[in-house]
Amino acid sequence: MIQLAIEAALEAGKFLTQSIGKIKTVETKLGQERNLVTEIDRKSEELIIGMIRKEYPDHDFLAEESGSHDQKSEYRWIIDPLDGTLNFTHSVPLFSVSIALEVRGEIVVGVVYEPNLGELFTAEKGKGAFLNKKPIRVSTVDKLIESMVVTGFPYTIQNNPGNAVEHFVNFLMSAQGVRRLGSAAVDLCYVACGRFEAFWEVTLNPWDMAAGVLLVQEAGGRFTDFHGAPSTVYNKQVLATNGFVHDKVVEILAMGLMGKMIASKS
Ligand code: IPD
Ligand code: CA
Ligand code: CA
Repeated sequence: MIQLAIEAALEAGKFLTQSIGKIKTVETKLGQERNLVTEIDRKSEELIIGMIRKEYPDHDFLAEESGSHDQKSEYRWIIDPLDGTLNFTHSVPLFSVSIALEVRGEIVVGVVYEPNLGELFTAEKGKGAFLNKKPIRVSTVDKLIESMVVTGFPYTIQNNPGNAVEHFVNFLMSAQGVRRLGSAAVDLCYVACGRFEAFWEVTLNPWDMAAGVLLVQEAGGRFTDFHGAPSTVYNKQVLATNGFVHDKVVEILAMGLMGKMIASKS
C-alpha cells in the first residue's frame, strides 16, 4: 500500500509541476476570501483517488476537496492533493502532495512529495522515516536559541487573530529563526529530517498533517497539542518537534495562550 501511495504522489506531483502557471479558475472556499481552490487541486485529487480506488475499490477516503467517501471500510486514505495552494496560485514552487493511510483509526503510512525539489518523504508505522529512500532523523538541537521553527496561519486569521500572532512574536523573540513556508505537510517533513526543530499551527485539518505527523514520529520526534498532551490528527492544534525542545516550545506557547507577548530588548 505504501508503494501505491508513492506512485499516486509522484503522478500527482508531476501533474502539479506541469500545471504551474496554467490555472484557469481560482475560486474561494467556505466564504473565506483567502481560502482558494483551483481546478488543479480538484484534478490532482481525482487522479490520486482514481489510482487508489482502482486497486482498492472498497476503501474509504477523506480528501480535502471531495470530503469523506465512507463505505465503512477499516482502511481510510487521507489526502491533500495540493498542500500550498496559495503558493501554487502565485507560481511559488513550494507545495506538496500528502497521502496517508489510516487503518482502524491508526495512521500507518505517510507519503509527502515536494515535486519541485524532487523530495519524497515516506514513513510506515514502526519502520522509520525516509527522504528519497534514505533514513531520516530529527535534529538533536536542545536550545530554542539554536532552533529554526516554522508555522502557518489559518485563512481566517484576519477575523480572529487570537494567539497565532502572539505565538509568532514570542518565537521571533526566543528562537534562532522563524519561517512560514506555506505547506504544513512540508513543514512537518522538515522537522522529521532535522531542518527545523519545531512546527506549530493553531488550526489544521487531518489532510494537512496525517502523513507529516507519522513522518515526525517515525523520525524520532514528538507530536502533541499545545499543552504537551497526546493528540491526534483530528485535533486542530498541532505541535511537532524534535523532542529535545518540546517542553521549551510548550512554555512559549503557554505564554501566547494567555495573550502575553515577549517584549523586544531595546
Ligand atoms: C494550507 C497550508 C498552509 C497552512 C494552512 C493550510 P492548503 O493548506 O498547509 O501552510 O498554513 O493552514 O490550510 O489550503 O494549501 O491545502
Ligand atoms: Ca493543506
Ligand atoms: Ca490543499
